[in-house]
Amino acid sequence: MTDRSLLRAKCRTALDFAGTQLRHLVEIYPDFFPMYTVQGKWKHSGEAWTNWCEGFLGGQLWMMYKHTGDAYWRAKAEHYSRLVEHRKTDRNVHDLGFVFWSSWKRWYDLTGDDRLKAVIVEAGQTMGLRFKEKGQYLRSFVADESLFIDIMMNVGIIYYAALQTQDADLLRIANQHCLTTRKTLVRGDGSTAHEGIFDLETGEFLRQSTHQGWRGDSSWARGLTWALYGFGTAYSFSGDVRFLQTAEACANFYMERTPDHGVPPNDWDEPNPAYPYESSAAAIAASGLLNLAKLTGDPARARLYEGYALRIVDTLTEPEFLAVETPGWEGILKHGMYHERKSLGVDESVMWGEHFFMEALCKVLGYA
Ligand code: GLY
Repeated sequence: MTDRSLLRAKCRTALDFAGTQLRHLVEIYPDFFPMYTVQGKWKHSGEAWTNWCEGFLGGQLWMMYKHTGDAYWRAKAEHYSRLVEHRKTDRNVHDLGFVFWSSWKRWYDLTGDDRLKAVIVEAGQTMGLRFKEKGQYLRSFVADESLFIDIMMNVGIIYYAALQTQDADLLRIANQHCLTTRKTLVRGDGSTAHEGIFDLETGEFLRQSTHQGWRGDSSWARGLTWALYGFGTAYSFSGDVRFLQTAEACANFYMERTPDHGVPPNDWDEPNPAYPYESSAAAIAASGLLNLAKLTGDPARARLYEGYALRIVDTLTEPEFLAVETPGWEGILKHGMYHERKSLGVDESVMWGEHFFMEALCKVLGYA
């Protein structure tokens, strides 16, 4: 693999390129929140399925400000963050962590302004309203009986709101959701299911299912990386070692089942997948593994996680993935996958892939 100083140079080049692509996006399509490209273009008539990506652009703009110190990026970051403030009371999605942690939390961390913190706390409290006492989980956007693995990336904002307001019941909700997800969606081999279905009358767990993976009993790659990253976050808030163990089990599965370059297919179990890569899962894994390297108390495991994360970053900063040599492509990272069954964002750039790729680059460079 590339040595450390060369890798850092690749990360700086990739962030510079991200700046070029982001400037194009916000200048050409002002106040537009893209989700995935179609043939490399952000603006198209493809459906969204659900609204969960609106914080990623603000988050990317905050990271560009960190990378450059240029007031242009700060003004854009504040603007795009303000545009999503009304979502703090949105009860239609399970994604308020994605929306506010990416954007407003970065803004708050920079300023320490309590008015910004209040918005994040309110979003966390709104997320807590999704809790189903029968079943002990936060319901997904699709139905009351549905639990998604993705929600592990949105439970952190509930922990945050609970701890900031010393709300013991909200803390219970966050912990119980993680325990239920661990019990019903994470398997003995460290793989994860996308969705769990519950009996609404009794709260009984009925079965595993999927929307974006191959089958209910298979391993959708992005879902596993949401778990890898999210259980690490749950451990950092709760100190519950079961969550660290779960994150590490997911990390082990990822490292064992993925080719040496570090980029998985959309689902590890699907025979002969039509597309070899799901780059957004790799970006999330890289950033989550860099978190785990700091969370684990074991120096050997820390080296393993960091080394693997750097391998992913090395791969994703090559022109096969970084769109730097693809004229006319508006995204940063190619070969992402949103929803293959619905033919949405297949082998394209996807906003969460861009966001977590940039986050991993920033971590390698010591910005985050
Ligand atoms: N809905 C979240 C995802 O596609 O990963």
